[in-house]
Amino acid sequence: MKKILTIKRTIRAFDKKLNVEGDKSLSIRWVLISSLSKKKSTSYNLLKSEDVLSAISCIKKLGSKVKIKKNKCEVIGTGLNNKVNKNLTLNAGNSGTLGRLILGLLINFNKELKLKGDKSLSIRDFSRVTTPLKKFGATFKLKKNGLPIIMKGIPKPKAINYIEQKGSAQCKTSVMFAALKSEGITKIKAKKSRNHTELLFKYLKIPITIKKNKNYDFITVKGVKNINSLNYKIPGDISSCAFFIVLTILSKNSKILIKDINVNPSRIGIVNILKKMGGLVKITNKRKYKGEIIGDIFAKSTKNLRAINCPTNLNSSAIDEFLIIFLVAAKSKGISFFKDISELNQKESPRLIWGSKILNLIGIKNILTKDSIKIYGNPDLKVKKSIEIKNFLKDHRVFMMSVIAALTFGGQWKISDLDSIKTSFPTFLKTLKFIEQKSIQN
Ligand code: S3P
Repeated sequence: MKKILTIKRTIRAFDKKLNVEGDKSLSIRWVLISSLSKKKSTSYNLLKSEDVLSAISCIKKLGSKVKIKKNKCEVIGTGLNNKVNKNLTLNAGNSGTLGRLILGLLINFNKELKLKGDKSLSIRDFSRVTTPLKKFGATFKLKKNGLPIIMKGIPKPKAINYIEQKGSAQCKTSVMFAALKSEGITKIKAKKSRNHTELLFKYLKIPITIKKNKNYDFITVKGVKNINSLNYKIPGDISSCAFFIVLTILSKNSKILIKDINVNPSRIGIVNILKKMGGLVKITNKRKYKGEIIGDIFAKSTKNLRAINCPTNLNSSAIDEFLIIFLVAAKSKGISFFKDISELNQKESPRLIWGSKILNLIGIKNILTKDSIKIYGNPDLKVKKSIEIKNFLKDHRVFMMSVIAALTFGGQWKISDLDSIKTSFPTFLKTLKFIEQKSIQN
């Protein structure tokens, strides 16, 4: 359904403490890894978004038993050998993470597997995972490098050597999942990207080694016969938290404390970038949890924001947050420059192009190339006109970025595809209402 959100005024000053929903990357990984254990795995605070529910549907089709009770989810998986011995169709919905990871997970599926997805996912690049997965011995038929894919796995995959050059955790993890089911030791040289899978494998005592240099991680994974159950309390998602950090920084006289967030160093690019721009944001109360780091994030309205020439080594740790960071650049003094970010155009919609479009609509000059954007900030930015946003690929992050722009810069906004938030952050609007409630009146 095409629901439209209308926003006609900026948000009132607020001072709030809140939680956001569970981390999407960890939620999908927990579902998929739990399906590989024959023992019962339990999670709390699993994100109940469409992407994660699609993952649950897939593992159920593959024979896992799943029980969802309020904040608790239990999975009894099938073990490493597949239970299903017939041709199967799986639907990854809107989720690139699920689509790419499950192909690696099913490397030993010995019937025909069809993987499909929605309009946005079907035109995303899957050759980036099928190319390395072919080396294990599987065969694939793709539609123009995208979905639907027909895959025929291999009963006894053999370990491979793989170089991952894009800084894609999805590609790295897909190969690591296939490695688990393979004979021998798979060796991966991967450009830096989020490392949740490595941490989970370590926690589960799966034979993995990791060496690091400045730009690459060198990972080995040895095939195993079975894996343990995984009990996990999913921390909050920094990618959801990001919208409220920026809302606070760009609003007047406001403060926010967002509790129990996964602040893994490979995910906190937004905090590091905003700090360099003068943004008042900090991580407090850090503690360790099963290999990850959890903390609270505090942010405050900031007056003198400055432009950034964003170091490329921060790109992968902020990959899902650039759209919202562009709004901060729009309100900063000077010209910001973000480069080597062509991967943004490989997301649920071409986000680099969308970022530029929205900046144009709010009157911010920007120069776009295929892998960079220069943003000419205006600290006095105020929007007075009517703006309509219609993203034909229903990208949840384009929707949420537009809402934050409307609530901080002003103007009369009509933003289509309200339902898109269900993919990653179903309670986004509810949380915004909570922030507005009994806000400090100006
Ligand atoms: C993810 C990795 C990132 C990110 C996506 C989730 C993951 O994609 O954009 O939202 O959970 O591994 P890439 O690895 O393709 O950059």
